[in-house]
Amino acid sequence: MKNLSRRDLLKTSLLAPVAVAANGMGPIGAALQGAGQEPGPLPASPPHQSSKPGGERERLLLDFGWRFHLGNANDPARDFAFGSGRAGSFQKTGNFLPAGSIAFDDSDWRAVDLPHDWAVELPFENDPALASKGFYPLGRNYPATSVGWYRRVFELPAADADKRITLEFDGSYRETMVVFNGFYIGRHSGGYDPFSFDVTDFATPGGRNVLLVRVDATSSDGWFYEGAGIYRHVWLVNTNPVHVKQWGTFVKAKVRTGEATLSVRTEVKNQGKSAQSARVISWVFDRSGKVEGKAVTQFETIAEGGEQAFAQEIPVSQPLLWSLEERNLYKLVTEVQVGGEVVDRYETPFGIRTIQFDAEKGFFLNGKPVKLKGTCNHQDHAGVGAALPDAVQYYRVRKLQEMGCNSYRTSHNPPTPELLDACDELGMLVFDETRMMSSNPEGLGQFGDLVRRDRNHPSVFMWSMGNEEGQANTEKGLHILTAMKAVATEFDGSRPVSIAPIRAIGVGGLVECDVMGYNYMDPGAEAYHQSHPDKPVVGTETVSAVGTRGIYITDPNKGYVGSYDPYTTTGRASAEGWWSFCNARPWLSGGFVWTGFDYRGEPSPNGWPNIGSQYGIIDTCGFPKDSFYYYQSWWTSQPVLHVFPHWNWPGMEGKEIAVWVYSNLDKVELLLNGQSLGAKEMKKDSHLAWIVKYAPGAIEARGFKGAELMMTAKRETTGSAAKLVMKADRQEVFADGEDVAVFAVEVQDAQGRAVPVTDNLVTFRVSGAGKLIGVGNGDPTNQESDKGTSRKAFCGLCMALVQSTKTAGSITVEATSPGLAAASVVVAAKTVTLRPQVAAWEREVPVGSGITGLWRPEPGATAASGLPAMLVGDGTAVFAVRQEGSNLTGSVEGGGSGFFGGNDAPIPIAEGKVAGSSVSFKAGNSTYSGALKGDRIELERKTDLGFPMPRTEEPTGPRPAIGPPPDGSDPSRGPSLRLPAGASVVLHRVQR
Ligand code: GAL
Repeated sequence: MKNLSRRDLLKTSLLAPVAVAANGMGPIGAALQGAGQEPGPLPASPPHQSSKPGGERERLLLDFGWRFHLGNANDPARDFAFGSGRAGSFQKTGNFLPAGSIAFDDSDWRAVDLPHDWAVELPFENDPALASKGFYPLGRNYPATSVGWYRRVFELPAADADKRITLEFDGSYRETMVVFNGFYIGRHSGGYDPFSFDVTDFATPGGRNVLLVRVDATSSDGWFYEGAGIYRHVWLVNTNPVHVKQWGTFVKAKVRTGEATLSVRTEVKNQGKSAQSARVISWVFDRSGKVEGKAVTQFETIAEGGEQAFAQEIPVSQPLLWSLEERNLYKLVTEVQVGGEVVDRYETPFGIRTIQFDAEKGFFLNGKPVKLKGTCNHQDHAGVGAALPDAVQYYRVRKLQEMGCNSYRTSHNPPTPELLDACDELGMLVFDETRMMSSNPEGLGQFGDLVRRDRNHPSVFMWSMGNEEGQANTEKGLHILTAMKAVATEFDGSRPVSIAPIRAIGVGGLVECDVMGYNYMDPGAEAYHQSHPDKPVVGTETVSAVGTRGIYITDPNKGYVGSYDPYTTTGRASAEGWWSFCNARPWLSGGFVWTGFDYRGEPSPNGWPNIGSQYGIIDTCGFPKDSFYYYQSWWTSQPVLHVFPHWNWPGMEGKEIAVWVYSNLDKVELLLNGQSLGAKEMKKDSHLAWIVKYAPGAIEARGFKGAELMMTAKRETTGSAAKLVMKADRQEVFADGEDVAVFAVEVQDAQGRAVPVTDNLVTFRVSGAGKLIGVGNGDPTNQESDKGTSRKAFCGLCMALVQSTKTAGSITVEATSPGLAAASVVVAAKTVTLRPQVAAWEREVPVGSGITGLWRPEPGATAASGLPAMLVGDGTAVFAVRQEGSNLTGSVEGGGSGFFGGNDAPIPIAEGKVAGSSVSFKAGNSTYSGALKGDRIELERKTDLGFPMPRTEEPTGPRPAIGPPPDGSDPSRGPSLRLPAGASVVLHRVQR
């Protein structure tokens, strides 16, 4: 067994068969050294891009070491001066906000790592206006919890002076304002689409840089939970001025028997100061690192500030196709050469496969029919809200695959890129959806970026231009969708476009769909197919059945819905109703069930106390509901036998209970306490049901294939809760501070049987090399915090998400509950080369005797305000001092230095002296002198501005009521604008 890569580990779980193939090096290294490595059944991908993937490009993760504080959407005083007028002037360059300075005191800002969603940290509020937000207090009426500020200081190496420096955000909810080194950089409000800013002009290579981000989640527009904060990754990208543009590569494959021709398009940008002659060398590597093809272009001159697209054709013989079963991935490595040097190397994973929709026969992948057994999903998960660590994306995709789901609609927004990586690597087709159906610049921009970003993923097989937009059905919709389709054609052209429509099929702008989608209207789809026999059709959204995991009695007061399939309350379809319709019609390509997982918000079918939806086939934690086994029966080929409900019904003795069986076996016999209640033949795409008079004991299903007993499934009346049993989905994780294992707890009786009707409070304790990042239990009415350390078991189940730290070792998770035997599981955290990342930066605290240490002006103690405050320091200053005898050295940051001293750089202390209690020193153009008093240093600061301030004398003589004084003095500069001779500064000791 070779070394496991991070990706490989993400792909494995106790619940999915372990299959690994890996190498730990970049593709070119692997090409040279890869001989003799046997490829495994899954495609290898290097664990991370190597720290220098090539040329001068670096892509560094900027997730760790942030500071966070809530702001305020209404009150500038509690929003770090944003909106207070002078501080926060978009039209002035630099010194944008106090918090944008490095010296700013953020010691009461909390340490956080990304991805981060502050909404799940908030307490629930019973306000009907908050239903869509999962009852988290966000919006106009909740200004104190709707804005978040993030700060991150980092150093850039001096060598970056020749680079282009870009900040890339994978997604942030919602209005995001970026300030870099005190410069206002820009804003973005898409919520789900990626955005980036070139910050080269504002960067300090060879010094410290500060990134300040304000995220305002006041205005959401989803009827579902959308989160709040920087909930996806952030990257710092450094490149040579001549480089491959973001998402600037595109590989399109033409597949024939035994060979494929790759059309490769590469966009190269020249941000240098002169025209450059450049060429592109494209390498194609297979999963083992073997070179499968190479092409070199001519040198082309790219004008200063210009762009050039290069086109190449690369044949690949005997290509290994990407399919749901064999996730063969290739890698394109693009080298940009200027003169004799490779200045950029850019990696593009891709797959070779064909897709085709046939109006009569449905969907084909690589020429083979594949019925689309899809689910729609929102992006949040228990414990973490919208901020999913990558490992949780893989966990969710594996869960869906367990029930046979082979396609995923990213409703109703662009997904995070790691979801697509998981789908590429695990084998799941993706119907990739944009958020805004519009041909306005924002709508086209979002859709264009989605297509450019995602077009190389083999999993992505269709673009969705939106969801349930009434205007799509109109003449205006025709204009809009025509423009959107043109964008998909321009940037891709190899995938069909569609849209999930509302109450219509094929009207207005919907005619633009290459594959006609429909939401819920099965009979309408049938009629449409008959009238349009040449148009492929897919169920873009189906079913919408609700149910509460482990609950069998519908109780609107409690907010629970019984789990029998027909209890759908939405008037649409049951799982069985839809699937038997869909599966019987070969022309129907398949469909996407609403939804795979439960999600926060859209509390359905009840309002409060429901805080989330109950549409999922799987709850928010990943625990399957009964309907999971209906789909598993008819969506997989593995034998399935599932009987429900549970058999703990004290007080129901002699009463009739519907007992259902989901199975794909030929025949099932049901027994109550060993007595046969008869066998029934299973009809395709159906279920079996018996009415049974309840008696405690056991209900048992026996499943037959032909005459042979294949398997049995049993539900027994259990004893009371006696112990906790815990299982982790992974036995080992990587010690990278990112990886996550899911620890599921089941409450059992003394005989080891799961107790299905218990709600014991379980407390999690994590020790060693991991940390608890969230808890959940799948109860759609539970209002305990996902960020707490304990959680009630719901119908006997709850779970904790535990994340590795960057230290290798073991992670011990203990689960305890009063009166029950505790459980404990140990998972290994293995050493791994960290993804290239931006080192966390902390200001060094000088250690030594006397006044050695960090000091800051005491808030409010500086007498100056207004202009003098700006000139002499307004509190965002930090003094790092070192006393050796009577000698004082160190530096002063901030304190007005940004205004006249320049850029927050630490100014060295000169002529520093300590004599008894008196202290004096110079820093830049300021002289400080005063005395140490207890734990304070009281100083007088005098600043020599280096130029004369206009000074006028106060008029002395009599003044007329109107007009200037007779002595001719100029009253236009009032005393408030005069710089005082000095200002008092009182320092106190700090740690940051
Ligand atoms: C659909 C809608 C989904 C969800 C679903 C619930 O019409 O597209 O977002 O609201 O209804 O049944």
